Amino acid sequence: MTATLLDGELLAGKIRAEVTDRVARLAGEGITVGLGTILVGDDGPSARYVAMKHADCAEVGIVSAHEHLPSDVSQRELEAAAARFNADPAINAYLVQLPLPPGLDEERVLISVDPDKDVDGLHPVNLGRLVMGAPGPLPCTPAGIVELLYANDVPVEGKHVVIIGRGLTIGRPLALLMAMKRTGCNAAVTVVHTGVKDMAELVRQGDVVVAAAGRAGLVTADMIKPGAAVVGAGTSWEGKKLLSDVDESVAEVAGWITPRIGGVGPMTRAMLLRNAVRAAERAS
Ligand code: GUN
Repeated sequence: MTATLLDGELLAGKIRAEVTDRVARLAGEGITVGLGTILVGDDGPSARYVAMKHADCAEVGIVSAHEHLPSDVSQRELEAAAARFNADPAINAYLVQLPLPPGLDEERVLISVDPDKDVDGLHPVNLGRLVMGAPGPLPCTPAGIVELLYANDVPVEGKHVVIIGRGLTIGRPLALLMAMKRTGCNAAVTVVHTGVKDMAELVRQGDVVVAAAGRAGLVTADMIKPGAAVVGAGTSWEGKKLLSDVDESVAEVAGWITPRIGGVGPMTRAMLLRNAVRAAERAS
């Protein structure tokens, strides 16, 4: 492998240390930071992600609460769970783990979250703030990717970022963020997706390529400009094995690359902690 590894676990550890200090400072003022999670159903990966978020909270001194609802929960019961967290003064921030089981209306659930407690930055008010360039919680995975590239001195400003995928949690908000005039962004952005005919040709033009499609091995070495930075943000599962959108061969061509494990995932969770402590600081 010739590419430099973009070590998300290392950077996330530093961010957790920063969050620990901020949580302790609030504790000194008598304020406890509380983060809630709502998980619907028994999807194995989602349950594991939520468990990791609680472990992170414990590490940094954030008190966490969890609501686990059955996969056949009604829309009304799910929104009632959100309403309980909205009303709970011990919860500064919370999330509803996505994706939801079929039959539940994701958009209505996201709207039911109090925007001030929206640790995901996915409430329409907060997505609107992102579009406007106004302060607010940023979606965690896009924010984590920007931080990871910046901390590793990967040139992004003025460069061409190609994002594969237009999903709500990664591709769409990342495209907005990367195009903004702010540190570590300010890039030309192309979004490619399943509706694009010659995806490979566009991806080959990227100085930075972010794969967020959730299709294992989608990005191969022949699609990457030599020396480009490649971020694997999309995931899929083969049993309990986490698969990356980025094929292993890419490491021979890329200048920088995220590892299959310990790249974007820890950064997403670190940004969640940062959004939670920010929500508590704002409320105090
Ligand atoms: N599932 C995959 N990514 C995310 C995320 O960023 N937030 C939530 N709530 N669920 C997810």
